[in-house]
Amino acid sequence: MSETTTLTHATATLANARRLCEPALRAAIESLPDPLRRMAVYHLGWSDPDGAAVRTGWGKGLRAALALAAASAVGADPLIAVPAAVAMELTHNFTLVHDDVMDADRMRRGRETVWSLWGASNAICLGDALHALAIRVLSDALPGATVGTAVTLLESAVVEVCRGQYEDCAFETRSSVTVEEYLSMAAGKTGALIGCACALGAVCAGADMATVEGLDAFGRQIGLAFQITDDVLGIWGDSGRTGKPVGGDLIRRKRSFPVVAALMSQTPAAAELSRLFHSDAPITAAQATSAAALVETAGGKRRSEQYADAKAEAAVAVIPRHAKADDLISLAYFASHRNR
Ligand code: IPE
Ligand code: MG
Ligand code: MG
Repeated sequence: MSETTTLTHATATLANARRLCEPALRAAIESLPDPLRRMAVYHLGWSDPDGAAVRTGWGKGLRAALALAAASAVGADPLIAVPAAVAMELTHNFTLVHDDVMDADRMRRGRETVWSLWGASNAICLGDALHALAIRVLSDALPGATVGTAVTLLESAVVEVCRGQYEDCAFETRSSVTVEEYLSMAAGKTGALIGCACALGAVCAGADMATVEGLDAFGRQIGLAFQITDDVLGIWGDSGRTGKPVGGDLIRRKRSFPVVAALMSQTPAAAELSRLFHSDAPITAAQATSAAALVETAGGKRRSEQYADAKAEAAVAVIPRHAKADDLISLAYFASHRNR
């Protein structure tokens, strides 16, 4: 497949997954008590802050698409994995609502974040409710023989997310962060859930544990490609497409992959960037713009793109041999070549 065909295939796979999962996702959200329901409906792009219906979209649906694609890759009807896909999207959205509090981000998907509208305490309640709802969706829908496995996989992934999120925040004030430390942090905050989406799709399809683990490993590699690409888009992306302001990570001194790679480069640009990252003064928007240029001059952008590509290729290399891999391959490519 050519690169354009692969991206077109991924776009169609994502749109199809969103279409298949939206009714069950909506039903789960509608079961929440108000005002949690109202905040959740807003967060998922189905209403404005006052509750009036709109349709701005609930994200890319990558985790849902991976769960369905994993089930289908092992020969099952993808519909069997809809509860897993919905549980993954609920869990992912729980982590986003909390992440925006932790990162003090006021914009997501081009709209004000939940904490920005309703305060941090309410955002924490909503995130917790979405997490609980994910478990309920799994335990209501999965057969008794698989529900224990699925819940253990999901909750173990959430523990890894918490570790990754802790490290991501701790790195903001660390004097140095290595590539290995970044990769371990990103494997937790992003890789674990993306791996879990693939694993749960396979569990729903009745796959053996070796296949479940193989697909989990595939998803974890995609997770790294996805996060490094997210870091690149956070500095050089088009905020009209990503829905997030550009430069926020630099202003908060996040040790994103481009920054970690740039700081390691032993170039004059790296030395200047290091001075900015080690000063105590707040980073202004203008300084963030110059920092972005320094990161690029120091090779941080190029190295990130190369690394994300390599991780997407590493993902494809670990797909279990007997799996029907077209959708999975296109989604791996999307993780490192998306612009939103
Ligand atoms: C998000 O990480 C990871 C989780 C939500 C667990 P980031 O903070 O890097 O992602 P964005 O840019 O806010 O989506
Ligand atoms: Mg964030
Ligand atoms: Mg974050």
